[in-house]
Amino acid sequence: MKNILESKFMKEMISAASNMYRLGWDERNGGNISYLLKDYDLSEYLDLNGVIREIPMGFEAKSLVGQCFLVTGTGKYFKNVESDPENNLGIVRIGKDGKTAELLWGFKDGGRFTSEFPAHLMSHMARLKVDDKNRIIMHSHPTNTLAMNYVHTLDEKEFTHTLWQMCTECIVVFPDGIGVLPWMLCGTNEIGEATAKKMEEFRLVVWGMHGIYGSGRTMDEAFGLIETVEKAAEIFMLTSHLPRINTINDGQLRELAEFFKVDYRKDFLSE
Ligand code: 13P
Ligand code: ZN
Repeated sequence: MKNILESKFMKEMISAASNMYRLGWDERNGGNISYLLKDYDLSEYLDLNGVIREIPMGFEAKSLVGQCFLVTGTGKYFKNVESDPENNLGIVRIGKDGKTAELLWGFKDGGRFTSEFPAHLMSHMARLKVDDKNRIIMHSHPTNTLAMNYVHTLDEKEFTHTLWQMCTECIVVFPDGIGVLPWMLCGTNEIGEATAKKMEEFRLVVWGMHGIYGSGRTMDEAFGLIETVEKAAEIFMLTSHLPRINTINDGQLRELAEFFKVDYRKDFLSE
């Protein structure tokens, strides 16, 4: 059996969690990541009949039955993922009833998957419907994105438009814009359902006054989306209290999107 800690998916997960921690996006146990392991032959690394324990999920994920996810643990610190992956991460398979997760590896100290598992799995289901290559759902609390939530409207057209204006490349990186949810109670099936609904349309979803969700075919895509939003939000927070004397106008945003041939939200431009 190959050493699972040497696998590409494990290295990607550890490096994402460590980078997110060092960027200050994920204090304490803040943030969570789930990675759909469809493209890997897990039998090279694990005994797939060796279910360590079964964990009830409290919601149904019918279309994911039999699928395996590498996921961060609830209450676990991103800071510690690198030094102790087996306690802070787990690999689960969605059981036949669609309501139970079968633990195949990790959560060694008796832990369980993130409390945001409903939002993760519901978002995976939603993204897979529009892009069958989607593999990652990532949740984080990036500082400037969160700060911006307190001083900017939480209207998704206005929020996206402001961020597009903050860095020239934003409209090229997230032409599909950002979905925005109002403040909601986290860890619930309700916020999961609301996030998944937005994920049918957007790869990025802001949770008002809480954080952000990103999705992608790869860890780099999900990470890069959040990283670009956070950079733009930082520019906003550095400049929004100062007189604005220059701006990227809608004609220039349109020019960028057309030159780089991206399918952008035309209805998010006002002119
Ligand atoms: P978990 O520790 O359960 O993953 O929760 C962290 C978080 O960010 C909740 O939104
Ligand atoms: Zn959170």
